[in-house]
Amino acid sequence: MALVHLLLLPAVLLPLGHSASVNVGIVNGTEANPHSRPYMVSVQGNGEHVCGGFLVSDLFVMTAAHCWKESGLDKAEVTAVIGAHGLKSNDFERIAVKEHHIHPEFHYPAPSNDIMLLKLGNSTENIKNAAKISISKLSKGMDRSCSVAGWGRIKTKGTASSVLLETNITVYENCETYWNDTNLLCAGGDKGGFCQGDSGGPLVCDDKAVGIASFTEKDNCDNPTKPNVYTNISAFMSWIEKIIEHQ
Ligand SMILES: *[C@@H]1O[C@H](CO)[C@@H](O)[C@H](O)[C@H]1NC(C)=O
Ligand SMILES: *[C@@H]1O[C@H](CO)[C@@H](O)[C@H](O)[C@H]1NC(C)=O
Ligand SMILES: *[C@@H]1O[C@H](CO)[C@@H](O)[C@H](O)[C@H]1NC(C)=O
Ligand SMILES: *[C@@H]1O[C@H](CO)[C@@H](O)[C@H](O)[C@H]1NC(C)=O
Ligand SMILES: *[C@@H]1O[C@H](CO)[C@@H](O)[C@H](O)[C@H]1NC(C)=O
Repeated sequence: MALVHLLLLPAVLLPLGHSASVNVGIVNGTEANPHSRPYMVSVQGNGEHVCGGFLVSDLFVMTAAHCWKESGLDKAEVTAVIGAHGLKSNDFERIAVKEHHIHPEFHYPAPSNDIMLLKLGNSTENIKNAAKISISKLSKGMDRSCSVAGWGRIKTKGTASSVLLETNITVYENCETYWNDTNLLCAGGDKGGFCQGDSGGPLVCDDKAVGIASFTEKDNCDNPTKPNVYTNISAFMSWIEKIIEHQ
């Protein structure tokens, strides 16, 4: 499974005194209604699912920066699978990724500024079951009933899902009390969450993307004691605009 080498556990000890694991399917999820999330992208290396992602424009997929080198996309032929539900069917479009833009302040192993934009070789405008999602800001105090979806593993070291799974999650206040970093959103940890292979997928609140799945507690997607961590997209708005508008 191409997913296996994503779990670079020894390398992902956070210098926070906490340990984290990146690239971590959806735990406690249910199968999404087919094509109810037309923005979802399976980012693939040599035809195998590596990370989630989402369409933010006709030409750009947003995902996590650690998907590139740490998950081995740098050594693979990278394609974006658009308009999919089941990854084993052929009912989707595959488009080559032409450029990748990693945030210049992305750091690893403690993933910070974990955001990347992939430019596609073709527009997704006329693709069946595909549509972009708006990105938005989740401010403190806002309604925090959100969801996450992915084709990743359904439990720690479990198998990946071939159909898109989703789960409702709650975004926590005070992410800083769990993880010592800024520009993060914390969610899940009570009912469900993400796991290996879900990285890069969107945290969706009110049909808008507010976060990017980044990392979870080391080696434990099933019963985490700390919430899953997402990149807070709105903290990167000017960088995003610069890249997308420059094209
Ligand atoms: C773009 O679409 C054309 C026509 O469908 C196809 O021949 C070409 O391979 C596609 N390019 C990429 C980069 O996927
Ligand atoms: C998730 O939340 C949505 C909207 O709040 C609700 O309609 C849906 O039934 C929930 N799904 C599950 C599995 O609880
Ligand atoms: C949080 O991170 C900052 C900057 O990296 C560091 O100076 C501080 O000591 C850390 N605090 C804790 C409680 O680990
Ligand atoms: C999944 O549900 C089980 C049983 O309700 C619970 O113990 C576990 O913590 C949940 N996992 C996540 C990631 O929330
Ligand atoms: C996300 O980042 C934006 C912009 O920096 C900030 O205003 C907002 O409060 C952050 N959201 C959370 C929940 O921390």
